[in-house]
Amino acid sequence: MNDQAYLDATAKTRDARMQWWREARFGMFIHWGLYSQLARHEWVMNRERIPIAEYEPLADTWHPIERPAREWARLAKASGMRYMVLTSKHHEGFCLWDSKLTDYNSVKRGPGRDLVREFAEACREFGLRWGLYYSLMDWHHPDGANCANDEAARRRFLDYTQGLVRELCTNYGKLDILWYDVSWPLKSPALWESVKMNAMVRELQPDILINNRSQLDEDFGTPEEEVRAAEGGRDWEACMTFNGSWGYMPSAIDWHSTRSVISMLRTAAGGKGNLLLNIGPAPDGSVPAEAYERLEPVGKWLKDNGEAVYGEVDDARHMEWMPTGQWTIKGNTAYYWCNRWAGSTLTIGGLKSKVLRASLLPGGEALCFDQQENRLMIGGLPEISPDPYAGVAVIKLDFETPPEQKLGAGCVVL
Ligand code: GLC
Repeated sequence: MNDQAYLDATAKTRDARMQWWREARFGMFIHWGLYSQLARHEWVMNRERIPIAEYEPLADTWHPIERPAREWARLAKASGMRYMVLTSKHHEGFCLWDSKLTDYNSVKRGPGRDLVREFAEACREFGLRWGLYYSLMDWHHPDGANCANDEAARRRFLDYTQGLVRELCTNYGKLDILWYDVSWPLKSPALWESVKMNAMVRELQPDILINNRSQLDEDFGTPEEEVRAAEGGRDWEACMTFNGSWGYMPSAIDWHSTRSVISMLRTAAGGKGNLLLNIGPAPDGSVPAEAYERLEPVGKWLKDNGEAVYGEVDDARHMEWMPTGQWTIKGNTAYYWCNRWAGSTLTIGGLKSKVLRASLLPGGEALCFDQQENRLMIGGLPEISPDPYAGVAVIKLDFETPPEQKLGAGCVVL
């Protein structure tokens, strides 16, 4: 298949393949590998210049508890997440599955088990979609760096890469997402043979979604550590650390708060994107308490307010900045995520469309309101935010036409 034929074929099926993902909004990223034992970030091998010979024994000292993936999946579900993505092989090169192409894997070494299989089974058990992260860059394979300068090394490394990806796409039934990462050191998709590799992936997994990190745009963009909409209406998913490190790192103590996670979700949904929030389990597989403390209320909040988040949304970025909240939009309905509660009356300026109904989530109890030309005043609200979990209460406004808001910097002249 030539490149253009491949791109055309994937574009044709994209809407159908992406449908569940466009409605899912919230996923869990899991960074877990040998580096978790060192507890100093997943780049520890590279940043501390740890020689392979010194790093490798970590493969034998890694002994996770039984099926921690069930606990991740339970937490993801309780947090309102709809899918999960696990690092099947990070830059360190260690494979978390039963590979026939290398012994540097979790079945042959310390864990003695296929961790990808456990993950896939747990996701299925909890009704979550699942994906695998795969780092193209490999610090362990002898050709991982060499492949940039030596044609024979490149051939060997591509065969290895394609072979590993084939295993992942063959061994575990339906796989929903392939999430590539870092394509160092080869400088073009042609050198990576990305079209050939991804065409193979799609042949094995016709419904799969592929991210944009094999040097092809593929199905969605992946802004990292910033929740920012992709240009040109492309689908996007912001991947975010919870505490500044992807891998387990207890000294990284700046955890996003529950409010901050909800705010990231709002920014994602307001720009038609998804949020992939990371947890870095401890080497035994247990989830840091800080993640539980924050995610459980996020899940409760989503039970009450999920309507403002899940499902196909419209771009809300044309709406104005407001000091008391932000928007998400679905058709003629706008949701005002009020994260600074104004008291018994909420006033919103500049709405150009006629409000038919105002209500408060959850439950949708009707609120009384008065819409003057440029000013909507909603009255009879509680003095303090009614949201018990994060102080982010959602007011739903049904409009006659798609919501519009326009506010200049100047004042109203009467
Ligand atoms: C970066 C980092 C990597 C991390 C990834 C997640 O590319 O190199 O450690 O896994 O981002 O998006």
